[in-house]
Amino acid sequence: MTGQADTPYLDALRAYAARNPGRFHVPGHKGGAGADPGLLEALGERPFALDIPALTYGIDVGDEPTPFRAAQQLAADAWGAKRTWWLINGASQGNHVALLTLGHRGHCVVTQRNAHSSTIDALIMSGLRPTFVSPELDPELHIAHSMTPDTLDRALSDTPDAVGATVVSPTYFGAVADVAALAEVAHSHGVPLVVDEAWGSHLAFHEELPAPALSLGADLVISSIHKVVGSLTQSAMIHLGNGDLIEEHVVDRCVTLVESTSPSAILMASLDAARRMAATRGRELVGETLAALTRTREAIREIPGLDVLDERLAGARGVFDYDPLRLAIDVRGTRMSGYELARRLREEHDVLMELAGENVMVAVYGMGEDAGASSERLLGALRGVIESTSEAELDAAAVQFTAPPPWGKLVMTPREAFLGPQEVVAARDAVGRVASESLAAYPPGIPNVLPGERLTAETLDYIERTIAHGGSLRGASDRALRTLRVVVES
Ligand SMILES: Cc1ncc(COP(=O)(O)O)c(C=O)c1O
Repeated sequence: MTGQADTPYLDALRAYAARNPGRFHVPGHKGGAGADPGLLEALGERPFALDIPALTYGIDVGDEPTPFRAAQQLAADAWGAKRTWWLINGASQGNHVALLTLGHRGHCVVTQRNAHSSTIDALIMSGLRPTFVSPELDPELHIAHSMTPDTLDRALSDTPDAVGATVVSPTYFGAVADVAALAEVAHSHGVPLVVDEAWGSHLAFHEELPAPALSLGADLVISSIHKVVGSLTQSAMIHLGNGDLIEEHVVDRCVTLVESTSPSAILMASLDAARRMAATRGRELVGETLAALTRTREAIREIPGLDVLDERLAGARGVFDYDPLRLAIDVRGTRMSGYELARRLREEHDVLMELAGENVMVAVYGMGEDAGASSERLLGALRGVIESTSEAELDAAAVQFTAPPPWGKLVMTPREAFLGPQEVVAARDAVGRVASESLAAYPPGIPNVLPGERLTAETLDYIERTIAHGGSLRGASDRALRTLRVVVES
C-alpha cells in the first residue's frame, strides 16, 4: 500500500537508473554518454540517468497499478479529485484539455474575457464560440478581478446553448472568486464549471487559505503546480471534480491529444515529489510562509508610498477572498509606475519581480522557500530604490494610462478567424475589419482584441496611445502596430 509519504514514480525512475540497463531506446543522450559535455557539466549526470521514455516496463507499463498510475492516484487523493492527470506542457495544456473536453458537449461556452492566452488558444483549437464575460475591473488599482455569480448567471441565460463556463481564480494578484456560488450557478443551468486555478495549487494545504475550487463544486480544475508548490517549470495537473457533468474518458482522450508521446520523466517525477511535499509538509510550510509574508506586508507598508493588497480587498466586486500567499504591492503612493519601480529593482539590485503593472507589482513566493530570507532581499531593494529617488525623477516618471474602450463585436469564432483566409493590412486600414490575431496593450495586458472581433477606431487609437506612452503590445504579429492580420471576408 502506498501513501502520501511515498513517491512511486520517482522511486521507479531511481531504481531504473540504479539498475543501469542496456538503453536501446530514446533519448539519444543515452543516460548522459551521448550528451554535450557543457550541458553535462551544467546539469550534472543525474538528470540524464533519470531521463527515460514513456512506455518503459515497470514504470508506466507492466503490472497494474504501475508506479505511474499509483502516483497519479496519490495526486488525486491529495487534491481531492475524482481523477488527476499530470501535464507536461503547463497549465496551458490544462486549458487546452478543458476546452477540448467541453467541445465534446456542444459549440458554445461562457468564458471570462481576461482569461489566460492559453484559454484563447484553446478556443481556437476547440472551435467553441465564446460568450465573453467581463471581469470586474478595480476602478482604483486598474487591475481585473474575477467574475461574479450574477454576471455568470446572466451570461448563461443569454447563451442557452452554452456547454460550460470557465473562470480564473485566483487571479495573478491573489483575488479569489466565489467559486461555490459560481459552481451553483453553472449547475443550475446544467453545465460544468471549469476553474483555471493555475495560481492556486497550494490552496488545498492550509486552512487559513481560501478553499480550493475542487472542494467548492468545480468540475474541472487546472493547477500549475510549478508556480507555487515547487515542481519543475512546465509541470502541472488537471483535476476532475466529483460531479458527473464531465466524463473521465473524454478528459483522458483530450490529455493525450495535446500531449507529446514523449513526456519528460523528469517533469513527471517532479510532480510526484511536489505532491509528496505538499501532502506531508504543506501545512507546516505554508504556515511558515504565511507568517513570513505577514511580517513582509507590515514592513512594506512602512516604506513611504508603498502599500500591499491583502484581505481588505475581499468584498470588492469580483473578489470573494484573498490568497495571503501572494505578495502584490500597491505602488501608487510612490508616484512611480510599477514598470519603473520593477526596472529600478532589476537594474540597481538584481531583484526580479514576477509581474509589474501600472499600479501593482507582484512578487511570487514558493510554498516551501525561506520566505523570511527572500523578503529581506526584497525589502532592502525596495527601500534602496525609494530612498534614492528624487522628486524631479518622480515628476519625470509620472505616466497616465487611460482606461481601455469596450471591445469590438465577436462576429465569428476565434477558430474561424485564426484559420480562415487572412491578409496583412496597415493599421489605419484595419478599422471595421475582423482581427485574426490577439492584441493586448500592456498595461494592463487584458486583451483589447481577440481573433474574430471587429476592430474599432477607438481600440486601435487606444493601443497606439499606449505604445506611444512607453507601453507595449502583446500577441500581435507587428508589436509596433504598423500592420495587423485581418480576416478576408467573402
Ligand atoms: C491564469 C493562468 N492560467 C494558465 C497559465 C499557464 O500556465 P503555465 O505557464 O503553467 O502553462 C497562466 C500562466 O501564467 C495563468 O496565469
